[in-house]
Amino acid sequence: MLFKQQALLRQKLFLLGSLAIGSLLYLVARVGSLDRLQPICPIESRLGPPHLPEQIPLRTLQYKRGLLHEIRKGNATKEQIRLHNLVQQLPRAIIIGVRKGGTRALLEMLNLHPAVVKASQEIHFFDNEQNYARGIDWYREKMPFSFLHQITIEKSPAYFITEEVPERIFKMNSSIKLLIIVREPTTRAVSDYTQVLEGKERKNKTYHKFEKLAIDGNTCEVNTKYKAVRTSIYTKHLERWLKFFPVEHFHIVDGDRLITDPLPELQLVERFLNLPSRISRYNLYFNATRGFYCLRFNNVFNKCLAGSKGRIHPEVDPSVVAKLRKFFHPFNQKFYQITGRTFNWP
Ligand code: A3P
Repeated sequence: MLFKQQALLRQKLFLLGSLAIGSLLYLVARVGSLDRLQPICPIESRLGPPHLPEQIPLRTLQYKRGLLHEIRKGNATKEQIRLHNLVQQLPRAIIIGVRKGGTRALLEMLNLHPAVVKASQEIHFFDNEQNYARGIDWYREKMPFSFLHQITIEKSPAYFITEEVPERIFKMNSSIKLLIIVREPTTRAVSDYTQVLEGKERKNKTYHKFEKLAIDGNTCEVNTKYKAVRTSIYTKHLERWLKFFPVEHFHIVDGDRLITDPLPELQLVERFLNLPSRISRYNLYFNATRGFYCLRFNNVFNKCLAGSKGRIHPEVDPSVVAKLRKFFHPFNQKFYQITGRTFNWP
C-alpha cells in the first residue's frame, strides 16, 4: 500500500516537473522570437541624451524603430500585430500642402515624435478620382500599423489646390486637423518650376524659362494661368477650404523657418496636435554638406532628406521677381488676416 502511494507520488512529481520544464522551454522560445523583433541596439543607446523628459513612453520609442519597422517591412506576423493591438488608423491630421513648401521635411520631422506615425508615400486618395472610387477602406489599408494612442499623419500637397478635396475630407472626418506649410510665394513658385524643369531635363525635353511662364507675353502682367503662380495664391485656396472647416482646424507652418530653425515650428505643431512636447534639439542637427537640418532618431539612426529636396534654383530676372512679389502682396495680406499668422514676405 505504502509502496503504491510512493509510486503515485513519484508519478505526480514527474508530471509536474515535465510541465514546469515544458513551460520554461515555451517561454524561452517566445522571448527568443520577440527578441528578433527588437531593434539591434539596446534601448538605452537609442534614447538620446539623459536630458530628455523622463515620461517619454519608452515602449513606443522602442517599437517605433522595432516592431513597427518590422511590420512596415512586412516581417511581422498577424499574431504579433494582434498581440500588440496594432491597427491601421485613418489619419487624424493631414498635411494638405503646399507643394514645395517643405511638406516632406515637416512629415519626416513630425515622425520623430513617439506618438506620431506617418504614411510614407503620398496617398492621393482625395484628389485622384480612381483612388477615391476605391473607398475609405482602401485608404485605411494604405496607412501604417500603429498603437491606438498614436496618431497617423499623411501628406499629399495636391489636396490644397484640388477643388473636390475639402468636402471629401470633411465627409471622412469633420474634426480632422489640417496642416499647411507655406513659403514666401515667389520662392515657392520658383521651387515648383525647378522641380518641373528637372523632370523635363531628365527626359531630355526642353522647357521655357521661368520668366516666360510667369509673365504673360502679351500683357506683360503676371500670368495667373501658370500653375506655379496660382498655387502660390494661398488665400484663394484657403477660402475654398473655409467653406467646410473653421479656421481653428488649420495650422499654418512657416516653411522658410522650418529650413533655418525647425524646432520652434515643430513645437507649435506639437501643441496644435495636442501632443506632449517630445521633439528636441537632439533630434535635429544641421548638416553643413547638405545645407539643411537632418533628423536624428537615436545614437545609431539618423537621416537627411533625399537630394530632390533642396535643389538649386535658377537665377530669375529681378524685375520679374519684383513683379511677382507685388502681385502676391495683397493676397498675402488677406492670408495673414484670415489665418492670424503674419510673415515678413515682401
Ligand atoms: P527647394 O528644393 O526649393 O529648396 P516639398 O517637400 O513640399 O516638396 O518641399 C521641398 C522643400 O523643402 C525644398 O525646397 C527645401 O527647401 C525644403 N526643406 C525644408 N526643410 C528641409 C530639410 N531639412 N531638408 C531638405 N529640404 C528641406
